[in-house]
Amino acid sequence: MRKIQMVDLKGQYDGIKDQVNSSFQEVIENAAFINGPEVQQFQKDLEEYLQVKHVIPCANGTDALQIAMMGLDLKPGDEVITADFTFAATVEVIALLQLTPVLVDVEPDSFNIDPEAIKKAITPKTKAIVPVHLFGQAANMDAIMEIAKEHNLYVIEDNAQAIGGNYHFKNGETQKTGAIGHIGATSFFPSKNLGCYGDGGAIFTNDDDLAHTIRGIVNHGMYERYHHDVVGVNSRLDSLQAAVLRAKLPKLDSYNEARRKSANKYSEAFKGQEDIITPVLLDKEDTHVYHQYTLKIKNGKRDALAKHLQEKGIPFGIYYPIPLHKQKAYTDSRYNEADFPVTNQLVQEVLSLPMHTELDDEQIEYITATIKNFLDT
Ligand SMILES: Cc1ncc(COP(=O)(O)O)c(C=O)c1O
Repeated sequence: MRKIQMVDLKGQYDGIKDQVNSSFQEVIENAAFINGPEVQQFQKDLEEYLQVKHVIPCANGTDALQIAMMGLDLKPGDEVITADFTFAATVEVIALLQLTPVLVDVEPDSFNIDPEAIKKAITPKTKAIVPVHLFGQAANMDAIMEIAKEHNLYVIEDNAQAIGGNYHFKNGETQKTGAIGHIGATSFFPSKNLGCYGDGGAIFTNDDDLAHTIRGIVNHGMYERYHHDVVGVNSRLDSLQAAVLRAKLPKLDSYNEARRKSANKYSEAFKGQEDIITPVLLDKEDTHVYHQYTLKIKNGKRDALAKHLQEKGIPFGIYYPIPLHKQKAYTDSRYNEADFPVTNQLVQEVLSLPMHTELDDEQIEYITATIKNFLDT
């Protein structure tokens, strides 16, 4: 059996080696390392794929979120609602910009922000909602967009874990996640579903004015060379990373399909296990791109199982072990434990299994058999 890895980037590289190597060579020969043709072409390719008017590449997903919020001209003290159960980047940038993060609970099945909790958290200071399509499954965008419309709030989608996923609206329309809210932000960190070979990120919007503002912000607030109209940052996707992303983008749908197939095999193998709740798909298959395949391990057995997997050399992840509202940097006297029953429970139960495009049946069989044997004895 091939060595089991949480993510197998080398195996994936073998399938795109010729294209990546030759475009790396070309970038080096042309020496257009920053803002070269590869970056511009990737931007266009991604606009076409996502069916969004503007893609603005930047240095990483955290920057993408920060720049999105800078673009909306939010003011210190404005409240931004996001999920308690997510990676810290989402809340970090809110705090960095001196906005007030308002963390709310998530739904037990999807792990995504709970629209009812959003409604309860809205105050006159609320300016934006940041749903995260966690682990690759789309958040409830019907409800979130409706709440935003009613209260005149911006929606910034954190699409770092869900690129390539679709959302099917109740009215029959389908849109790519990240292209639904006022702004979408994504990460091209190597292990993401569309990942480069270093850091990278992008911002998406259909709003021409916002796109113009953001293009200046990523480039030191310049709209004309050496004229700095707003405070900006330096956040660029480099040409080598864009070359990798251009090689991978045409394969993204098949990469996501491979993840779905592996997820279904895992779930099939765990059927009937009383200590395991497999990921719950809330809509059609294409609404989940399985950035992570995350189980809930019931009856207090998660930590013992984790230890066993470690002993057996099977990689796993606990995403995330601590609710954000309990992290030292983000505690706030306004939070009430009773408002976070789901997150408080999830942090004790979640366990993510190896998930990538190169998983094979033998590996899945070994992983699932090891888990079942342990829980059955
Ligand atoms: C949900 C979420 N948001 C934001 C980020 C930040 O992306 P990056 O690591 O590219 O800054 C990540 C990636 O780790 C993420 O998972």
